[in-house]
Amino acid sequence: MPCRRTSLAATRVELARVPQAVRVARRLLRTMAGDCGGCVAGGPAELLLSEVVSNAVRYARGSHVDVVVAPNGTRGLMAAVFDEEPHLDRGTRAGSGNDGMERGRGLDLIEALSDTWGVTTVGDRGKWVWFTTAAPA
Ligand SMILES: Nc1ncnc2c1ncn2[C@@H]1O[C@H](COP(=O)(O)OP(=O)(O)O)[C@@H](O)[C@H]1O
Ligand SMILES: [Mg+2]
Repeated sequence: MPCRRTSLAATRVELARVPQAVRVARRLLRTMAGDCGGCVAGGPAELLLSEVVSNAVRYARGSHVDVVVAPNGTRGLMAAVFDEEPHLDRGTRAGSGNDGMERGRGLDLIEALSDTWGVTTVGDRGKWVWFTTAAPA
């Protein structure tokens, strides 16, 4: 089913940089997917957005994050999260931290499950971490 939205306008919200932002962002994406009718619902995009917002809460700085979600093509979704930390150093990927916990898997998952993703730095103001999903073939 093609996307039923009459425009491809993005929805943007500013959220306090607190753990609850993760579920608010997921709800925003679900609403967008529902509006679309034919958009790939929640699913992987919801999971990926959870990871990006969790990272912004955990590793970034500033009091707020901006979350943008939008349809991508006929059935895909895109999401972008702005935080006020300009740098993203992945460090040791998928290695073991001092606490013995595996680290660095989140961005690996984004790479594996998104169609495209990236980090767009906005000078020294911060960065967008964004991804797109496409409809399965
Ligand atoms: N929004 C962000 N701002 C700053 N650093 C980040 C951000 N997201 C991820 N990082 C860095 O990239 C590393 C890898 O992130 P990730 O793959 O999600 O693994 P994890 O969350 O398990 O550490 C993090 O440990 C952190 O150092
Ligand atoms: Mg993470």
